[in-house]
Amino acid sequence: MDVLSILGSPRRAGNTARVLDWVEEVFHEAGSAVERISIGDRDIRPCTGCFACKLRPGSLCIQRDDANGLFGQMQDADIVLVATPVYCFGFPSPLKALIDRSVCLVSEFGQPGHASVMEGRRVGLVATAEGPIGRNLDLLVEPFELLCDYWKATSVGHLLVPGCTRPEDMGEGICSQAHTYAQALLSRQTES
Ligand SMILES: Cc1cc2nc3c(=O)[nH]c(=O)nc-3n(C[C@H](O)[C@H](O)[C@H](O)COP(=O)(O)O)c2cc1C
Repeated sequence: MDVLSILGSPRRAGNTARVLDWVEEVFHEAGSAVERISIGDRDIRPCTGCFACKLRPGSLCIQRDDANGLFGQMQDADIVLVATPVYCFGFPSPLKALIDRSVCLVSEFGQPGHASVMEGRRVGLVATAEGPIGRNLDLLVEPFELLCDYWKATSVGHLLVPGCTRPEDMGEGICSQAHTYAQALLSRQTES
C-alpha cells in the first residue's frame, strides 16, 4: 500500500511531524511504502482564480510551481494523510494554497457529471493545536469532509490532538492514539 503524507506545517520537526511519525510507524511496520512531503519544502503559490483549468477541461493548473507534481503523487497514493497544525482556526496558508489549487482536479462539481482525479483515494486528517478541540481543532473537520466529497475521495477520518506545546512534551498517550488511528486505517484498507 502506498501512503503519501502531506505535512502542512512549516516546522519539519514540530508537533504535527511528531504525531505523524507515530502514525507512519504503523504503516512502515506493515510494509507499506510511505512518503512524506513537507509543504515548506515546496513552492506552492496561491490560486490566482484565473479558471484556466476550468476553461480547458482535463488540464491541470497553468502555474509552473510544485503543485501539479504533488497532485500527481496524491493520485498515485492509496492513502493520503493531510497532517496540519491549526493556524488561526483554520489551515496554514501554504496548505490552504494547495487545497485551493486542487480545484483543477475536479470537474462539474454539483452536477451529475461531477468527476475528480482523486476519486477512490482514501484521505485522512491529522491535526494538532495548542488549544482545545471545541471551537478550535474541530473547525478543520467540516472543511476536510467537504473537501473529500469535492474530491470524490473517501474520508478515513481524523485524529485531533489538542494541547500541544512542544514535540518533546508529547507523551505515550498521544503516541498510542496515533497508533490506534493508523491501525484502524490499515485494517479498513485490508478489508476492502
Ligand atoms: C500562526 C499560528 C497560529 C496558530 N493558531 C492557533 C489556533 O488558532 N488555535 C490553536 O489551538 N493553536 C494555534 N497555534 C498553535 C499550533 O496550532 C500548535 O502549536 C501546533 O501543534 C503547531 O504544530 P507544528 O509544531 O507542527 O507547527 C498557532 C500557531 C501559529 C504559529
